[in-house]
Amino acid sequence: MRAVELFSGCGGMSLGFQNAGFEIVAAYEYWDAAVECYSANFRHPVRKADLSDMASAIPAIASDRPDAIIGGPPCQDFSSAGKRVESDRASLTVCYARIVDAVRPRLFVMENVARSLRSGAYGEAREIFKGAGYGLTEAVLDASLCGVPQSRKRLICVGALGEADGFMAEGLRRGLAERPLTLREHSGGSLGFEFYYRHPRNYSRRAIFSVDEPAPTMRGVNRPVPKGYRGNPGDACPPGDGVRPLTTLERAMVQTFPPSFVWTGSKTENEQMIGNAVPVKLAEHVARAVMGHFAPDPGS
Ligand SMILES: C[S@@+](CC[C@H](N)C(=O)[O-])C[C@H]1O[C@@H](n2cnc3c(N)ncnc32)[C@H](O)[C@@H]1O
Repeated sequence: MRAVELFSGCGGMSLGFQNAGFEIVAAYEYWDAAVECYSANFRHPVRKADLSDMASAIPAIASDRPDAIIGGPPCQDFSSAGKRVESDRASLTVCYARIVDAVRPRLFVMENVARSLRSGAYGEAREIFKGAGYGLTEAVLDASLCGVPQSRKRLICVGALGEADGFMAEGLRRGLAERPLTLREHSGGSLGFEFYYRHPRNYSRRAIFSVDEPAPTMRGVNRPVPKGYRGNPGDACPPGDGVRPLTTLERAMVQTFPPSFVWTGSKTENEQMIGNAVPVKLAEHVARAVMGHFAPDPGS
């Protein structure tokens, strides 16, 4: 099945779909650092494009003749803890829906933060999808039940022409683990530490985590333990000498990027791409469910 990824970042979602057997034919992204990193990891083209310029984007994407459009429009405006004011960024979700409406692939998969469900932009996108004749399955999936050692809840909306709403609800649930994957289980015990620091958004939240639980959501910035950090009652252990933040590569591992993934660009850019990404194994779970529905393996 031919797929195009919109807002591709460094390609976490593309990699998961590719692993599940999709043929990714092109990706679209406007951030130079992400374009460069993506092209270091895939053979198909990544095209630098501002997808809010739909008049230019739609003919290019249509010429890729995708069976599927996949992608996660930027979610900063939905997910920032302090201010949840929607801005121009949120309307990229609407751009995604307009592009789907114009290109009319057989199906699409859109990923976003769980709270986008309550946003005006998502409501508008939903109306566009319904008006275009797509049946929708909307599910919030926890990545830690999909082979990712991280609590990361994401809205997955799968749309397909001519299907009834909810057509893939069972398919998306199939194969979910019964309990969250811990960092120790994922790493096979090769980490060399028991606890690590993840900078909290505010100090009412805990910041030290154990490898015997799923990691908290990886975000786009990675800060050191501040001098004088006195700990939080919820911390998995008291702050002390050995406790440090995860390295960039460890964070990529938590996002289930393979060790062979090539990270180009600066450390700050890599941290951002990693935090932005759909965990590869979460994307793969969704992609296998979609494949199972639309192109079932005749042997299974
Ligand atoms: C949530 S990230 C996508 C991550 C990607 N799905 C992955 O799995 O790695 C959203 C991406 O949209 C890009 N973006 C933001 N505004 C854009 C625009 N107007 N046109 C194209 N890309 C844009 C950002 O640079 C960012 O890489």
